[in-house]
This record gives sequence, C-alpha cells and structure tokens, in this order.
Amino acid sequence: MESRVGIESVSLAYKKIILGVTGGIAAYKAAELCRLLAKAGADVRVAMTAAAQQFVTPLTFQALSGKPVLTSLWDSASGDGMEHIHLSRDADLLLVAPASADFLARLAHGRADDLLSTLCLARSCGLAVAPAMNREMWAAAPTRRNLEQLRADGVSVLGPAAGEQACGEIGPGRMLEPADILAALPGLLGAGPLAGKRVLVTAGPTFEPIDPVRGLTNLSSGKMGYAVAQAAAEAGAAVCLVSGPTCLAAPAGVRRVDVQSAAEMRAAVLRELPSDVFIAVAAVADYRVDAAAPQKLKKSDAGLNLRLVANPDILAEVAALPGAPFCVGFAAETERLAEHAEAKRIRKKLPLLVGNLAQDTLGQDSAELLLFDDRGRHPLPRADKLTQARRLIRHLATLLN
Ligand code: CTP
Repeated sequence: MESRVGIESVSLAYKKIILGVTGGIAAYKAAELCRLLAKAGADVRVAMTAAAQQFVTPLTFQALSGKPVLTSLWDSASGDGMEHIHLSRDADLLLVAPASADFLARLAHGRADDLLSTLCLARSCGLAVAPAMNREMWAAAPTRRNLEQLRADGVSVLGPAAGEQACGEIGPGRMLEPADILAALPGLLGAGPLAGKRVLVTAGPTFEPIDPVRGLTNLSSGKMGYAVAQAAAEAGAAVCLVSGPTCLAAPAGVRRVDVQSAAEMRAAVLRELPSDVFIAVAAVADYRVDAAAPQKLKKSDAGLNLRLVANPDILAEVAALPGAPFCVGFAAETERLAEHAEAKRIRKKLPLLVGNLAQDTLGQDSAELLLFDDRGRHPLPRADKLTQARRLIRHLATLLN
C-alpha cells in the first residue's frame, strides 16, 4: 500500500503578535520580520524602545504593520492610559527581535521602566526573544546568567545565529534571519501537531578517537537531522538535538547537546529520556577503536593495526526500553532499499523507518525518501531536506495522534 504525504504549514493568520524592537543594528532586520508576519496573516503591533528608534524610524514599522507604533508609556492618546495592560492581555505572543544584551538584562530583573519592558512584565501570553549582540557580549557571564534566568522563567530563546557581525568580528550573537524566526513561531503559539510533545533527535556523524588528534568518522553533514529537529520544533514540540560534530547552527527554539563519540551520544540520549518521540538520524559509527592511544601515535614503517570493537546500537536500545518513546529510524542503503530497510525496521522494532539511497543523500541538499510503517510504504518525492523533514513530521504526527 502506498500513499503520498502532503505538507501542511501551520497558519499565523489572525494571531495577535506584539513585535518588540530594541536598540541594535539588527533592528533593520526586524522591519523584514514585520513584513513577513503581516504577510503570513498575523495581526502585528510593533513596540519600539527609545534606542531602537535610533536605528529605524517608527514610520517604517507603521507602514509595514499598517498600525501606529507604540513608543511610550506616557501616550495620552490611548483612552484610559492602560494601553500596555490591554495590549498584552490581548496578544497571543510577545516577540522581542532583536533583543539587545541590555534588554535581556532588564527582562531578567523584571524591570518595567519603558513601554516594551512593561508589556513584557504585564503580559499573560508567551514571550520569545531573538538575541542580537556582539559575540563577546553574548559570551559574557552576566548575559549567560540572564539567559538562564529567562529560560527558567519560561521565555523562549530563538538563536542567536553565528557568523559575520556588524562590528566585523565572527562568532555567535547575530540575530536569526527573519524567515527562521517566522518558522519557529507556530510551535511557540502551541498551534502545531506536536504541541506539548517532547522530541529527541540525534544528528550528524560520530567521531571515534584513535589518539588525541585523530579519529574515525563519516561523511554525514547533519543537514537531515537538523532539518528534522527544526520541523519538529515548528510543529510545536520541545526539541532536544543530540549532535555529533557538524558545522551547522542549532535551529530556532531547539536545545542542542554536542557530543563526539557514539558512547557520548548514547549517554546523552539516555540522559535526555523520557521523551515522547525519538528520531535517530545520526550516522553513528558501527565501530570504535578498542583502546584509543592516550598520546599522539608516532608513524612507523611497520604500519598500524587498529582493533575495532562494535559500538552500542542507540536506536535499538531505546526502542527496547520499557515505555519506549515512539522510535523513528533512518536507513541509508546503497542497494535493494525497500528490502533492507523493511528488514531493519522489523529487527529494531520500529513503528516508523525512513529509507534513502546513501549515494543520493550524503551531504546533498535534497533527497528522495521512502517511509515504512505498519500500514505500508509512503514515498516522499525528491525535495529539499527541510521540506522532507516537514513531510516526515506530518506523517509521524498522524501516526502518533
Ligand atoms: N543507529 C544508532 N546507533 C548505532 C547505529 C545506528 O542509533 N550504533 C541508528 C541510526 O541513527 C539510524 C539507524 O540506526 O537511525 C541505522 O541503522 P543501522 O543498523 O545502523 O544502519 P547501518 O549501520 O547502515 O546498518 P547496516 O550496516 O546493517 O546496513
């Protein structure tokens, strides 16, 4: 039996979103975010701090949102002078993008000394922040402390991304791209098909040390696993991504745990359980070096013999646990895909397995996939990995619900 799995994006239509803009060069990107929100059908009200108005004028946001921009607590035009209370009561989400280091500090301390901070304190809806700052400011101990506090207070932290910064330095701290922030919102609004679910994803290769500077690894880029984590977060799940070494940034709203070897990946996965869903996308090395050398090995004309021992199968172990999560496996085969993949699904006792041709997928940006479950096979025709991940998550959600 075969069926096609469609994509269905969660709509922002009619959602009331307050977009808070604070002072930083990324404020110019908030204009694009405002445009995308309005285009997605959201009812956007923009509130700007005094510092934000040094970078972009309120008129820009007024034109993009179609509504007057809120800039002051002391605006006598609003009837009873309680605009901040009414607005925050009415909103579905308060999104501060960019959120400067100073604003995060004020938020963490519950300050209410301008309109935006007062809206944040008075709100009854969810609050998300997209930090944007210089990399040293991002790494600074007070910022770390403030973020920890904000997370403990239930604030969703989107990003930041890493890369070239306005100051010319390179590192983490720049605001996520507007399209990435937009993609994270349906999940935050609790509107997605995985709302309230915990999803644990493994991604990337593993690195099995030979000595302190060498090791065994594979060509997995991690792109598929990161796309799956992003799609699950967009669908409203709380997502933890256990990642082997990759060059990728964690998707918005996803908590990433970095590991190197299969043993570390296994330990991290077991630590992160319980979870409703476990999606094993990582290309875990099947073998590790029996006894990695504590010091760098010196070359020798006699050659080198490495004794390899089998690594634990993380997916099979999790699937066999009492009260196991809904487990999804990936199978990259080089031939007889359907036959090998179905055998793997039965052997590992998986309700859902994603098959692909290894030579077609490794390191590529697009893939053709075949889903296997108790009802049969479901082809996902070739598309980019994020589209495929969203299709997979839709399918998984229907099986789960
Ligand atoms: N997997 C895992 N832990 C391992 C090995 C694999 O969790 N030690 C997971 C992968 O993340 C993937 C699936 O199991 O979801 C792949 O199955 P696997 O049996 O490892 O595939 P291959 O190693 O390719 O198997 P074979 O060599 O038999 O084809």
